[in-house]
Amino acid sequence: MSAQFPVARPRRLRRTPALRRLVAETRLAPADLVLPMFVKEGIAEPQPVASMPGVFQHTLDSLRKAAHEAAEAGVGGIILFGVPAAKDGTGSAADDPDGIVQRALRDLASDLGDATVLMTDLCLDEYTDHGHCGILTGSGEIDNDATLERYASIALAQAEAGSAVVGPSGMMDGQVGAIRTALDGAGHTDTAILAYSVKYASAYYGPFRDAAECAPQFGDRSTHQQDPANTDESIREVLLDLDEGADMVMVKPAGAYLDVVRRVRDTVDVPVAAYQVSGEYAMIEAAAEKGWIDRERTIMESLTSIHRAGADIVLTYWATEAARRLG
Ligand code: PBG
Repeated sequence: MSAQFPVARPRRLRRTPALRRLVAETRLAPADLVLPMFVKEGIAEPQPVASMPGVFQHTLDSLRKAAHEAAEAGVGGIILFGVPAAKDGTGSAADDPDGIVQRALRDLASDLGDATVLMTDLCLDEYTDHGHCGILTGSGEIDNDATLERYASIALAQAEAGSAVVGPSGMMDGQVGAIRTALDGAGHTDTAILAYSVKYASAYYGPFRDAAECAPQFGDRSTHQQDPANTDESIREVLLDLDEGADMVMVKPAGAYLDVVRRVRDTVDVPVAAYQVSGEYAMIEAAAEKGWIDRERTIMESLTSIHRAGADIVLTYWATEAARRLG
């Protein structure tokens, strides 16, 4: 009597690194990665962000250098966030042609040429003294439609300074349509929109608020960002943004919302991005620093998982490091 052996042996294809590489279903490439970068006005030296080891608020000079390194590593794009020297109620530095992001864009556009895609986050929270993503009414609520006019103006300032892709992240209703109309009206028909269509009211943004100095001075963002309990709502947001003219859509955060990434990927026919946010970065860095996890393996596993879930493009603070490893 012969023993009963398994007929199928999936382990055969896992036996060697070469076999595993041959049958890998997901491959991350440097060009899939986008690096978020912070540039701060009025500082002489780059400043480390305490809750995000390895991430800096850049000067114009250090930004140029780091952007160069990213492009050299083959990173697909960089997305800029500005930290202005002065803030006010309407976030007037956001669309000032001499605002910090516009100055950085002009520098980088001439420096980098077409080596990587220059993108900009488009929101007001980094620029308002109250830290909210829009203009407030007298009673302290966000005035959706007044905010749209500000976003349209910021889009123009960013496009004129050289942003190839603007990324509205404020979750105001109608923001993509308002921005598209403004861009087209000014002849910027080639400026693309990466819509932060699906953006949850997430605790994972904690460290970002240090990096961008934009914690709300009162209240929170749950009247415009989405409830983590929902996913049908995300599909509705994505479809609305595509109707309004979005060229690409984003899900944010990434790691805790991989089901949403997959659902969006299965629903739309445009590129899907996912943003591995500051809290995802900080958790892995902190655990690695304590020696509790293998830093490099965890980073690459987290990025592969986001890509596998359906994100064509992954925004990550590890973009340059990961691209070097992959390249
Ligand atoms: C809003 C914006 C935020 C992030 C990106 N764009 C903060 C927020 O909505 O509170 C978070 C990114 C991160 O946590 O890495 N301008």
